[in-house]
Amino acid sequence: AKKVCNKAAGSALLRDEALVAEILEAVVSAVEVPVTLKIRTGWCADSNNGVRIARLAEAAGIQALAVHGRHRQQRYHGQAEYDTIAAIKQAVHIPVFANGDVDSPLKAAEVLDYTGADAVMIGRAAQGYPWVFREIDHYLRHGRYCPSPSLTERAEVLRSHLKTLHDFYGDYMGVRIARKHLGWYLAADDRFDADRQRELRAAFNALELADAQFAFIDDLFCPERSPGCVRAANGICAA
Ligand SMILES: Cc1cc2nc3c(=O)[nH]c(=O)nc-3n(C[C@H](O)[C@H](O)[C@H](O)COP(=O)(O)O)c2cc1C
Repeated sequence: AKKVCNKAAGSALLRDEALVAEILEAVVSAVEVPVTLKIRTGWCADSNNGVRIARLAEAAGIQALAVHGRHRQQRYHGQAEYDTIAAIKQAVHIPVFANGDVDSPLKAAEVLDYTGADAVMIGRAAQGYPWVFREIDHYLRHGRYCPSPSLTERAEVLRSHLKTLHDFYGDYMGVRIARKHLGWYLAADDRFDADRQRELRAAFNALELADAQFAFIDDLFCPERSPGCVRAANGICAA
């Protein structure tokens, strides 16, 4: 993030390898828990120093390394590349987690195969779709897809996610933070095209109370939209 890199922190540090080594050694020796590290492939296309950073991280006592397959200047543009991650995996003995644009079971399998990494790390694909982890896990174990979550499960998970946000942040901030999450859940739900998502987001964003957000979720999964909804069939759904 800009606010991190402008202070020469985060991926901006990749330009100063000696300082990276110094920081990692200081952290590793200061704590008793295992220290892991997350890096990008480098600062820019001309300085993909991910392999050197990985080696010095291992030498400093880092226990596992996650690598986002983009350099800093790319931000989130373009496609993640996996050649550098494969090279890093070859260069060190600690576990390496491949990261960047992994958004499906098939992609996870391909990236693991291509990089030889020990695991994949998922970011954006989990936003609004936390089931991505079990779907990938199932595919890697069994070589076939598991069923998508039912609407009932989607509703339950969304409700419990919102409740956790309300409880953790308090009603005022929780209600507001819930708005972006609802947007992600809508985007991951095939039932809603872009126009419908926009309408639903606008309606949800106008709600000021936690209870109103829960009622909205009940309505979202009501029988007219979701014939299979068990909550609705049981009369739990307010609609
Ligand atoms: C909401 C959000 C917060 C993130 N926070 C961090 C962070 O604090 N530190 C970091 O190194 N990367 C952070 N990232 C970047 C991710 O760890 C990951 O490298 C990036 O999103 C690419 O993976 P993806 O294609 O699976 O999303 C964040 C990403 C998202 C979406």
